[in-house]
Amino acid sequence: MSITEFAVPGGLRTATPGDMTALVGNTPLLRLATAETGHGYWAKLEGANPGGIKDRAALHLVRRARERGDLAPGAPIVESSSGTLGLGLALAGMASGHPVTVVADPGLEPSLRRLLAAYGAHVDIVAEPDPVGGWQEARRARVAELIAGSPGAWNPDQYHNPDNVDAYEALGLELAFQLRHIDILVCAVGTGGHSAGVFGVLRRLYPHARLVGVDSPGSTIFGQPARPRLMRGLGSSIYPRNVAYDQFSEVHWVPPAAAIHSCRRLARHSYATGGWSVGAVALVADWLARREPASARVVAIFPDGPHRYADTVFNDEYCRQHQLLDQPLPTDPETVDNPLGHLSVAWTRTTNVQDPLASQARGDGARVAGLVADGAAAPSLADGEVRA
Ligand SMILES: Cc1ncc(COP(=O)(O)O)c(C=O)c1O
Repeated sequence: MSITEFAVPGGLRTATPGDMTALVGNTPLLRLATAETGHGYWAKLEGANPGGIKDRAALHLVRRARERGDLAPGAPIVESSSGTLGLGLALAGMASGHPVTVVADPGLEPSLRRLLAAYGAHVDIVAEPDPVGGWQEARRARVAELIAGSPGAWNPDQYHNPDNVDAYEALGLELAFQLRHIDILVCAVGTGGHSAGVFGVLRRLYPHARLVGVDSPGSTIFGQPARPRLMRGLGSSIYPRNVAYDQFSEVHWVPPAAAIHSCRRLARHSYATGGWSVGAVALVADWLARREPASARVVAIFPDGPHRYADTVFNDEYCRQHQLLDQPLPTDPETVDNPLGHLSVAWTRTTNVQDPLASQARGDGARVAGLVADGAAAPSLADGEVRA
């Protein structure tokens, strides 16, 4: 018998030094059952990419910038990141010959910092949060400073650059090929890139499909006042223009203790888990799947895997320090009618999703506490601050 007589299920990928981008995409789907028989959801495991979901964005952002002539061959790339895009940019920089600087804050996990350095990225940590715009604004200002001092350097600007949305078209198509029919897509929201990009594809194929967003309490994206946040990845202290506000039928804010419970439950029962955003998204997808008919196709995107979170989400001492282990896992969220200015502490949801900047400009509804007119940053407090 010769090897050509065997069919390889799912296909195999081969990457070469000339095209290591073949390592990215075509990620697996996992079926996760809820407590009720027959109900469940599908998880798209983006942690199977070398760095995580943002490998897709980084490769696309760099490709488009080179095509447009914004990024000259060999020119430096400088970006603010809570880590995941940094890993992607390290890969993209390696693949196309650009030095990469990742501007982060002290909340960046030490293991990730070492990994970024191992991949050849320069990691620049800002020392202080901006008194008005928090860590995110401090990072943005540092990126501007580095760009100004380095002629030809390019900033991808993942928060506002529409290429960070288009980058996820392939992910949407993969889901359509894998599932053939989708009713609900559940995504964590940080820059808004992957929710907008994936849903942009799905809603054209399945016009009835719904998009459910998952955010962190104290994140400004959907109109809460800025507060210190423990969770990284999802949430923001600015108003990224890549968020497709008009596409969300519902948004949930999941507190860190619930996300941790959820990550640990996934680890124990499914062997696939991840960090803050994975735990939060899984909690919401499970809740939706329980309420929908068993035939509904609910899909959750798991942006990364567990390894980076060994010292936080999966570290009992860390969790005890932040009083995250002694709270029971909530079974249902509270519902709020007007999320603008609402400060959620427990798991909360709304079906009244609004763009805080558009609401502010129209002058309707509640005034958003501390919203600034140009949308650059919300005053007070910090992104990824290391306290509960
Ligand atoms: C781990 C993780 N989850 C979720 C997100 C949110 O994704 P997006 O920026 O596409 O909204 C990010 C963004 O940095 C992330 O790093």
